[in-house]
Amino acid sequence: TRDKMPPAPGDLLIHAEGAKAGQPLAAADLSEKVTRAWPQGKDKDGNPLTRSGDPNNILTVFKFPAGQIVAPTNMEATINGEIVAYSDICTHAGCSVADDSLNPGRMNCPCHSGQYDPKQGCKVVGGPPPRPLAQLPIKMDGDKLVVGGFFLSNPYPFTESEWEERKK
Ligand code: FES
Repeated sequence: TRDKMPPAPGDLLIHAEGAKAGQPLAAADLSEKVTRAWPQGKDKDGNPLTRSGDPNNILTVFKFPAGQIVAPTNMEATINGEIVAYSDICTHAGCSVADDSLNPGRMNCPCHSGQYDPKQGCKVVGGPPPRPLAQLPIKMDGDKLVVGGFFLSNPYPFTESEWEERKK
């Protein structure tokens, strides 16, 4: 069903938690800390449908000062090189990844201390994860953030073969 489908181009990003849960994400809401978001598509009648039916669809979105986001981040898939989105699901065993309280601007997985750097394409900088958190292309639509394309690499829990199939 559509609420379990992964983020698709044109999906609106909405707050997944906190006081603004359910509201569209705005650039002004974002910071160097994890802001969790769901992609929201449309049902077959064109009504809003949040893709929270699969918990692996949870995303995290960051805003860093200009110049801090660098390779291997795909800059084309960011907004002005300042706002970047990733899958929030750890590529090791599927936990939701949080802020790294010891290293501001980095992420830490509460399950086995996998560490990621969201300024560098969420590459793995510590612990057992086998690959980066998958970057999701985003863009502005007016004052709202929307999905610009499919994940740029294999998000948890896609196997390599499922991912190859998905990319076709
Ligand atoms: Fe994240 Fe194991 S699930 S480090």
